[in-house]
Amino acid sequence: MLQKNDAIIKIRGHHPQELIKKYGSPLYIYDEITLRQNCRKIKEISHLPGFSIYYSTKANSSIELLKIIKSEGVKADAMSAGELYLVEKAGYTPQNILFMSNNLSKDDLSQVVNRGLNICLDSIDEVESFFKLSPGKDVSIRINNGISDGHSAKVKTAGKVKFGISPKDIDLAHEIARKSGGGINGFFSHIGSFFLDYDIFHHNVLNLLSLAEKYPKLKYIDFGGGFGIPYYENQQNEFPMKDYQKIFDKTLSDWQNKTGHKVNFSIQPGRFVVATSGICLCRVNSIKENFGRSFVGTDLGFNFFPRPMLYDGHHQILNSSRDSANPPKICDVVGNLCESGDILGKQVELDRETKVGDILLLKDAGAYCFSMSSNYIAMPKPAEILIKEDGTILPIRERETIEDLAKSQLYT
Ligand SMILES: Cc1ncc(COP(=O)(O)O)c(C=O)c1O
Repeated sequence: MLQKNDAIIKIRGHHPQELIKKYGSPLYIYDEITLRQNCRKIKEISHLPGFSIYYSTKANSSIELLKIIKSEGVKADAMSAGELYLVEKAGYTPQNILFMSNNLSKDDLSQVVNRGLNICLDSIDEVESFFKLSPGKDVSIRINNGISDGHSAKVKTAGKVKFGISPKDIDLAHEIARKSGGGINGFFSHIGSFFLDYDIFHHNVLNLLSLAEKYPKLKYIDFGGGFGIPYYENQQNEFPMKDYQKIFDKTLSDWQNKTGHKVNFSIQPGRFVVATSGICLCRVNSIKENFGRSFVGTDLGFNFFPRPMLYDGHHQILNSSRDSANPPKICDVVGNLCESGDILGKQVELDRETKVGDILLLKDAGAYCFSMSSNYIAMPKPAEILIKEDGTILPIRERETIEDLAKSQLYT
């Protein structure tokens, strides 16, 4: 997606300075070609008939991207009424949507139970509420079997964390369902976000399958998301879909043959689908040195780019202007908020000398970047644009205005 020549780094032929001039800074840019390639890559994980991929909307819920993902035959996972609204706007119909709940009230549940979605519940209390609202129906549950992995403790999602129903309570969930005349029809899991090899994922697959053996009425088994991409330049490759496919499919088919259970298997990837399709541009507004440490100050704070602050997430930063032959300085690249933790990259070695007015480019910004952005410090959120397959630009989100900040406020 990036073309580096001596004068500038271009994005699919587009000049970053010109994009910023037209759409403002900071700016999120997505590449349709990469997004489609990622959808095709993730589908390589299984060739079994009936296998589903649910794209985890939380990674990026921009409608135009959801439409592309849908057109690649990838289904959607939603976690809130808002995500549900957006995936429906993108054209998803109930049979292609999975609703993953977490700590929903009976009222929240009542909004989703009768919409024909596949629903996965996260606690015994939700199971009770569900069967009070829909006696006689079937629903899936999320199992917390203690197997977890992730790039930060904040995204490890099994073990001593809030998610899922412990294996000791699976029978209780079945009993509540049975009493209402309904059933538990699926076991779902999600071990956490970000792994680059398949050992831990496979360990979870084996564990979930062994838990599922004694429940012949299960129709769905889902192994969650978490498939990683290399954020560091010299990091190992992304999750090896093709290599794992043979092991995965053999494990699933052997299990079906052994148990005689007819089950639809699925996964819920977010990051793998969208991360590498996104880039965030920002402008350098000041350069300084404080007590021997160099700072490159940009207009991109953690309100609009939260992963480094929230998770110590790493994003490769490049200077798109390449007109200086001077050697780079090691610096902290920082944002424009009044917090010392407002850091995009610590001790970054930009490949050229950086000057005020240069445009920096943060890679792998498609997942958990815009979708986690906020209006902290009352700043209007940036615009998003899509570079279409034919290279043309489609604006997909307007930059917010100052007036938007007061829209939902009540004041006299
Ligand atoms: C239940 C569930 N499924 C899937 C995902 C997607 O994870 P990833 O984007 O790492 O693939 C998440 C992420 O938090 C999740 O909570």
